[in-house]
Amino acid sequence: MRRQLVALGGASLLFGVSAFAVQAQSITPGELPDPPVFEAQGTPTFVGISDIFEYKALPEYHEPEWVTTNFVDKGLLPPVGERLPAEPMVFKASNAVDGIGVYGDVMRHVIGGRPEGWNYIGGQSQGWGGIDIGMMECLTRTGPLFEVKAEELAPLPNLAKSWEWSEDGHELTMHLIEGAKWSDGDPFDTEDIMFYWEDNVLDPNVSPTNGATPETFGEGTTLEALDEYTIKWTFKDVRPEQYLYQMAYGTFCPGPSHILKTKHPKYNPDITYDEYKNGWPAEFMNWPVLGAWVPVEYRADDIIVLRRNPYYWKVDENGNQLPYLNEMHYRLSTWADRDVQAVAGTGDFSNLEQAESYVEALKRSADANAPARLAFGARTIGYALEFNYSANGWGEPDERAQAVRELNRNLDFRKAVTSAVNRQALGESLIRGPFTAIYPGGLYAGTTFYDKASTVYYPFNLEGANATLDTLGLVDTDGNGVRNFPADTAGGQDIEITLLANADYGTDGNLAEGIVAMMEPLGLRIILNLQQDVNIGDLSQSGKFDWWVRRQGAEIVSVVQNTVALAPTGPRVHASHRAGTDGTLDLLPFEQEMVDTVNAFVGTNDPAERVELMKKYQKLFTENVYAVGLTQYPGALIINKRFANIPLGAPIFMFNWAEDNIIRERVYVPADKQQNYELHPNTLPGAPGSEGPISG
Ligand code: GLA
Repeated sequence: MRRQLVALGGASLLFGVSAFAVQAQSITPGELPDPPVFEAQGTPTFVGISDIFEYKALPEYHEPEWVTTNFVDKGLLPPVGERLPAEPMVFKASNAVDGIGVYGDVMRHVIGGRPEGWNYIGGQSQGWGGIDIGMMECLTRTGPLFEVKAEELAPLPNLAKSWEWSEDGHELTMHLIEGAKWSDGDPFDTEDIMFYWEDNVLDPNVSPTNGATPETFGEGTTLEALDEYTIKWTFKDVRPEQYLYQMAYGTFCPGPSHILKTKHPKYNPDITYDEYKNGWPAEFMNWPVLGAWVPVEYRADDIIVLRRNPYYWKVDENGNQLPYLNEMHYRLSTWADRDVQAVAGTGDFSNLEQAESYVEALKRSADANAPARLAFGARTIGYALEFNYSANGWGEPDERAQAVRELNRNLDFRKAVTSAVNRQALGESLIRGPFTAIYPGGLYAGTTFYDKASTVYYPFNLEGANATLDTLGLVDTDGNGVRNFPADTAGGQDIEITLLANADYGTDGNLAEGIVAMMEPLGLRIILNLQQDVNIGDLSQSGKFDWWVRRQGAEIVSVVQNTVALAPTGPRVHASHRAGTDGTLDLLPFEQEMVDTVNAFVGTNDPAERVELMKKYQKLFTENVYAVGLTQYPGALIINKRFANIPLGAPIFMFNWAEDNIIRERVYVPADKQQNYELHPNTLPGAPGSEGPISG
């Protein structure tokens, strides 16, 4: 089939048809089909921010009885009132669907990732699936915004309990929660904030997990500590409220400076940055956190167990210290197994997100006696094929890889690639039915800023794609079925392109295999580079890929979360275009326009202007095939029926993942439904680095 098409291309040249004529009949935008109707189940009850929580002192505080008897009464812990800030965060009972909870039980997660170690801000991942979300707290919080009414939509206070802008709008002063402590009792204050900022984000030798860089908060932005509990940001823009979103998970969640400083090269000249990053491996127990649960047990390829943080700084309206759940489990298995176990009731939670398992999961949850409830949300899971755009050295490409990057930077080439992708077939290869929708790239259909009229779609058109590559002079010179680079490029060798994809997810692999197959009749040889998540992080951050099938980030869904990552707005902010060896970006003209558009969006708070800017962004993105959109589909939240306080209509992914959205510190299991799942009942975390939990 492909050979025929190449022959056709060759023939047309033979007969002297001008390149223009060939191109004119090749690739043109087409009608974008509307996504099939798919009703999301459950809509959120929309509220104002102050309906959810406030900060205030309560007349009395409570904790699980065993904490009092085994720890406080024995003098091992100060009384709960002394462990809490003067004004803790108080969740309002009226906002919790099942109200005030009771203590006990476990949420049993299953994850496909593996922990590298605990130094998140130094660049280590913990295996995802909500471990890090449960351990870390950030200046602001965005997950629960799915239920905040549009007029009030703004990041929630969290570690920063309030803030105000200077009159000229360039300065933002934030007041931190006062008297909160890390889980080992060490005070949380601006030292932790400044250590995060100065010695991790600003230090070019450190790459915090989740990618915070100085530009994440705007070029030229500075941060200083005014006193123990006050920080001041200074921005170039006027009132860039947008950056409050970046101060949430995962780009402004400080780590325990009292531990981390002991191995940071700035304070320890004999220690290397590698030693700093890897200084606290997964075996290091009782890592101090500000979040609700502390890691107390780790068994490789088996489980991570976390116990309640006795210093957690959030309470319910009756003064009960949170969390309600005493323990968290993370079974170290596979992501597919997370779905299977949640549906079967041997696990408690899953973001059903790999479309291949939907049919089975749906069938099994339909039974009235099924242990878990399953609720679909909107189409917020999506994938794109991304091109490495850096032609000035990022990732140190060899001659072949450099030649591929030059192709990636060519619009006709990208148009050919996108036109060779049969999205309908690709979506159906994952699952049939109304789930998957054709995704042309850019913002997802159905999200707030999406505008169909600004979306350019190049439908499946293999013939046009082949003709276009012919006109680019990319022909199969040696008749082996693979097009060659022109004679003067990379030795005229076969065009081979490596495709990076995440081996931890079946969907990523299936989509990538689909791309390999669909590029064959286009005469491109795609070499699949399936890698585990831990390696994906390193390979992608260091630019070692030609193409990459990537699940899209929150910026594509909400636009306001992680906005700066929508374009290469800084040397290290974009997934597939970063600065080369000289520290600069080689932006294409349309990329510069995208960058300007995104910066203008960040720089204005005018809703109407923002809508227009995102239309422009969408047009630039899709017209130029910035990435090849593949498919978008809905995910479902699966939670065991014994849990209470799961908010209505919680999406698995919007501003953040469901593990943040459902406010797990407030989730509980009613007394009559509690199970004996605790592996370390009546224990609390021990001292940092000590072996495990302690019983008092
Ligand atoms: C992984 C999973 C998601 C979610 C996140 C949370 O990426 O695939 O479903 O659990 O971790 O960080």
